[in-house]
Amino acid sequence: MNYTFPENFIWGVATAAQQIEGGMREGGRGLSNWDVFSHIPGTISGGGVPDVACDSYHLVERDIAMMKELGVNSYRFSFSWPRIIPDGTGKVNPEGIAYYKKLLAGLKKAGIAANATMFHWDLPYALQVKGGFGNRDMIRWFLNYAKVLLDNFGEDIEYWVTFNEPIATFVGNAKGFFAPGLCDEAYARQCCHNLLVCHGETVKLFRSRNYQNAKIGIVVDVWKHYPADPTNPEDVAAAAAANETEGYGMYLHPLFLGGYSQYLNAYMKEHDVMPDIVPGDFETICQKVDFYGMNFYNVLIDDSAKQRRLAAEHGEGGNYQNRPEYHTELLERVLRETVDEYGIDVPLFISENGLPQIGMTDREAILDDQERIDYLDKVLKTLHKAIQGGIDVRGYYLWSLMDNFEWSAGYEHRFGIYYTDFETLERIPKKSAAWYSVVIRNNGIVRG
Ligand code: BGC
Repeated sequence: MNYTFPENFIWGVATAAQQIEGGMREGGRGLSNWDVFSHIPGTISGGGVPDVACDSYHLVERDIAMMKELGVNSYRFSFSWPRIIPDGTGKVNPEGIAYYKKLLAGLKKAGIAANATMFHWDLPYALQVKGGFGNRDMIRWFLNYAKVLLDNFGEDIEYWVTFNEPIATFVGNAKGFFAPGLCDEAYARQCCHNLLVCHGETVKLFRSRNYQNAKIGIVVDVWKHYPADPTNPEDVAAAAAANETEGYGMYLHPLFLGGYSQYLNAYMKEHDVMPDIVPGDFETICQKVDFYGMNFYNVLIDDSAKQRRLAAEHGEGGNYQNRPEYHTELLERVLRETVDEYGIDVPLFISENGLPQIGMTDREAILDDQERIDYLDKVLKTLHKAIQGGIDVRGYYLWSLMDNFEWSAGYEHRFGIYYTDFETLERIPKKSAAWYSVVIRNNGIVRG
């Protein structure tokens, strides 16, 4: 059977500034919260730091050449706020602007459309010191940054994403294992609320420009939890709590339905972690977007009995026991349920999807990534089914173009379809790169 995607389907790859650029102290760049956090001993597996990463600050032409080899028609990347405005507010860095102009000129020449995220987790450290997203002044700071981006790059970007995965800001402020490394849930909820207001204000600013060819949206990851046994109230409760209080519900509900869900409101009252909400915030947050980007990696199956047993055996709980199981076949269901639950009536993208190679060191073995191909193949077939079934998904971005700085996992999780040699900075196509280029050429999977 052939799995042919709709005409004009977007086939892309995705990256983010902090994960690939390096050039930490070059070209007038300021420090980010992640630069500082990653240098604190013990925060990153293997002690990896993003100072050089893939060195895309210098090797951007090589990156574009790789994308040409693949044949992608869109590149999802992010702007580095500390490269554009080193202190977060105030002076704009001309070298930072020039860097992205060069990237965009290269993409244009290669016929690759730009999909750019304004904020993919790298907050200028100067603003972190002032309280980061927990400070309501952030709305003004972010809007100023967004204005600089729109003034310089407005219609050169086909798809603008305000924020990538707001959950990272929650994790960094409530759980401590992302930057800035705080463990304060009430503060984290304030940060996320303010972040959503920043999103809404940015959409308003964008609309005031009346662009003809640029669109704006947001990316929220959906790691949906399902109960292992839907007749077991404990499993059902575990899944609902995870989805609503810490997962996608926390963002999609205010973004598409206005306000927090009843479930989350009750939870926040009970735990005394309700953020300060200013009248009008929810109207601002649920501005009409042009598209919704869903990052999809996996779903999690909540089996409370198993979790309890593992917690007793290993001294930790959570869902790690599900990690090696990939439920790609559930993507269609996740898409359908998300669209229905939040009444999403705008086009969608799978704005990220990929598979890590964890802790592998042998280059030949890493290059032979059949496991990734098998995973991607299943995801695309399920995605095809979802589109056939009427879900309006316009494009797919593979995470990631190349192995890069994988946040707290450092360089130990390799998501690339190009191998990155972090000593020489050479990039080498993995088996999956050739596979993906055939998929793109065929606009789908032929005789799969
Ligand atoms: C993030 C990426 C990250 C990827 C793989 C997503 O949550 O947006 O920055 O590298 O997942 O973990």
